[in-house]
Amino acid sequence: MQEISMLEIHELLVSVEERSIAGPVSLAIGAGEIHALMGPNGSGKSSLAYAIAGHPEYHITNGSAALDDINLLELSPEKRAEAGLFLSFQEPPEVGGVSMSTFLQMIASVHEDSPKDFKSILPDIGLHDNFLQRFLNEGFSGGEKKKSELLQLIARKPKIAICDEIDSGLDLDALKSVAEILRGEAKRGTGLLLISHSPRLFELLPPDFVHVLLKGRLVASGGTEILEKLERGGYKEFEV
Ligand SMILES: Nc1ncnc2c1ncn2[C@@H]1O[C@H](COP(=O)(O)OP(=O)(O)O)[C@@H](O)[C@H]1O
Ligand SMILES: [Mg+2]
Repeated sequence: MQEISMLEIHELLVSVEERSIAGPVSLAIGAGEIHALMGPNGSGKSSLAYAIAGHPEYHITNGSAALDDINLLELSPEKRAEAGLFLSFQEPPEVGGVSMSTFLQMIASVHEDSPKDFKSILPDIGLHDNFLQRFLNEGFSGGEKKKSELLQLIARKPKIAICDEIDSGLDLDALKSVAEILRGEAKRGTGLLLISHSPRLFELLPPDFVHVLLKGRLVASGGTEILEKLERGGYKEFEV
């Protein structure tokens, strides 16, 4: 049995409606590793995340994506999730009629090591008890939607979590608590791919690896020296 979970993306090319949007992208994310995927608006970060998660509009025209040697590209989005992949959305959809509580319990019921009591987690991320009675994302502020995604991550205990702009719309206190929770999930063994256009989150949660996507192309992969270069000169430092 393999001990270390690993997402391996190799030379992935993503298109939407015959138009090439992102790639080639190669990445390997091990258990418990924290990776930052950065790039300006429109660089293809969300498209890449959608394609890996199996969104039907984002076609993979070349390359491979495997989780623990299971070929993700042959699986439906649901089966990819069952294999241990989680995507938190940049813009999570609102679902009326399903309470947060019901939804989280449903997710947690299929995983042995998931928390069964979400009430106790709420204060850690600055939420009140009544949050669990509200319908999934309905009328949530930007920050509450991100916290809702985070609760789903906690419930699911995935092998690999791709978090698309989980830092956007959060005030500094909320950002700190989200960083703390993500750190805990990584310590537990979840490999994180944290997508953001801003380095703010990574000041609180230093990543092990940093990748830069510009106009769909991965132009840099390395350590935190990449964040320093970004701070100094912005994305234009990476233009080729
Ligand atoms: N469903 C779609 N249909 C058409 N174009 C899309 C679609 N999704 C993304 N794009 C285009 O792909 C490019 C990258 O978008 P996106 O992946 O959202 O970038 P980022 O997340 O880095 O801001 C943009 O030019 C965007 O307009
Ligand atoms: Mg995006």
